[in-house]
Amino acid sequence: MSLSIPHGGSLINRWNPDYPISPIEKEIELSKAELSDLELIGIGGYSPLTGFLGKEDYESVVETMRLRDRTVWSIPITLAVTKEKASQLTIGETVKLVHAGEVYGVLEIQEIYEPDKTKEALLVYRTDDINHPGVKKLFTKPNLYVGGPITLVKRTDKGRFAPFYFDPAETRKLFAERGWDTVVGFQTRNPVHRAHEYIQKCALEIVDGLFLNPLVGETKEDDIPADIRMESYQVLLENYYPKDRVFLGVFQAAMRYAGPREAIFHAIVRKNFGCTHFIVGRDHAGVGNYYGTYDAQKIFLNFTQEELGITPLFFEHSFYCTKCEGMASTKTCPHDQKYHVVLSGTKVREMLRNGEVPPSTFSRPEVVQVLIKGMKQEAFSSSSN
Ligand code: ADX
Repeated sequence: MSLSIPHGGSLINRWNPDYPISPIEKEIELSKAELSDLELIGIGGYSPLTGFLGKEDYESVVETMRLRDRTVWSIPITLAVTKEKASQLTIGETVKLVHAGEVYGVLEIQEIYEPDKTKEALLVYRTDDINHPGVKKLFTKPNLYVGGPITLVKRTDKGRFAPFYFDPAETRKLFAERGWDTVVGFQTRNPVHRAHEYIQKCALEIVDGLFLNPLVGETKEDDIPADIRMESYQVLLENYYPKDRVFLGVFQAAMRYAGPREAIFHAIVRKNFGCTHFIVGRDHAGVGNYYGTYDAQKIFLNFTQEELGITPLFFEHSFYCTKCEGMASTKTCPHDQKYHVVLSGTKVREMLRNGEVPPSTFSRPEVVQVLIKGMKQEAFSSSSN
C-alpha cells in the first residue's frame, strides 16, 4: 500500500508567482475565509477544484454532494460578490483577487449567478436557523456568486505558524520520507484532550503515522484561539507521543460547522495531503444540537470506499472511566455514566477562563497549564483593547 491518490486523480497546482497581474484593473475583495479557500485551491488541497464553483457544479454539490462529473464533493467552495460589484464585471475577463490591499490571485470569470441560499443552508447545514454560525455567515455574505478558475499569485503571511504550514506536495513527500505507507489524518478545532488522544492512539495502533492537522482558519468567537491551541498541541506531543510517528501541520481553512457534510470535506482534503485514513469521532465539526452524535459517521454510507479513496475510522464517544481506570468508549466500557469523566467544551472553556484546572483524567496537566496561561493573556489583551 502507498500514500493515497489525490482526489480526482492528480494534485492540482495553480500557483504562479510570475503571473502578470499589473495589466489587470478590476478586482474582487476576498473575505478571510475566501482567501484561505483561494490558497487551498491553488496548492491542490481542494483537488480536483481549479477555481470557485460555477452554477452547475454548485447546484450539484448542494443537491447531491458531488460535482457534476460525479466526483464526491460535499461543501460548496464559492466566491460571493454584491449586485453592485457584479454589475461592473464581465464574463470572460480576468480580475484580481484582493485581500487587505494585497493581490493574492486572479480569477477568470466564467459565470455570475444567484444561489438559492435557503436551499444551500437546508441541504449543507441541515438548518436555516440563523443562530447556526455557518448559516449566519452564509446569509451575511453578498448575494451573488462568481465562478471560474483561479491562479494563486501570492502566498498568505503565515505569521508564527509558518513552520507548520505544508502544501499537499510537501506533506506527501515528508510522509514518504518517514516510510509511512498509511497515515491517519486528525481534524481538530479544540485543544487535544484525553479523549482525542485516546482515539488518535487507537488509530496509531493500526497505521504508520498520525497527521495532527488542527484547523487554524476562521472559527467562531468562543472557540479557543489557534495560537493557544498550537502551543497546547506542541506540549502534548513533546510529552506523550512518539516523535517519529506524529506529524503536526496546520489546516488553514475556515470552520463551517456543517457537521456531517464537513466530515466528508475534511476527509477528502486530508486525502489530498496524503492521508490514507481519517478519524471521525462524535459530532465531528458539529455545533450546538444541530446534528446527531453519529450523523457525521452515517453520512459516509452514501459513498463507496473507492470513490472516497480514504478510509474513515469511526470512534464512539470516548472518556475516562473511573471504574475501568482508563480511557474507554461506549463500545468498550460496561459501567454506568456516573463513572465517566465527561466535560462539555463550553464547561471546559468556562473553567479555564476562571483559572480552574480540569481533572487530569480529562486533560493532560501540561496542556491545561498552556490553556490557562493562554486564556489569561487573551482576557488581558481583549480587556485592554
Ligand atoms: S471538530 O469540530 O474539529 O470536529 P473537535 O476538535 O472537538 O471538533 O474534534 C476533533 C475530532 O475528535 C472529531 O473527529 C470529533 O468527532 C472527535 N471527538 C471529539 N471529542 C470526542 C470524544 N469525546 N469521543 C470521541 N470522539 C471525539
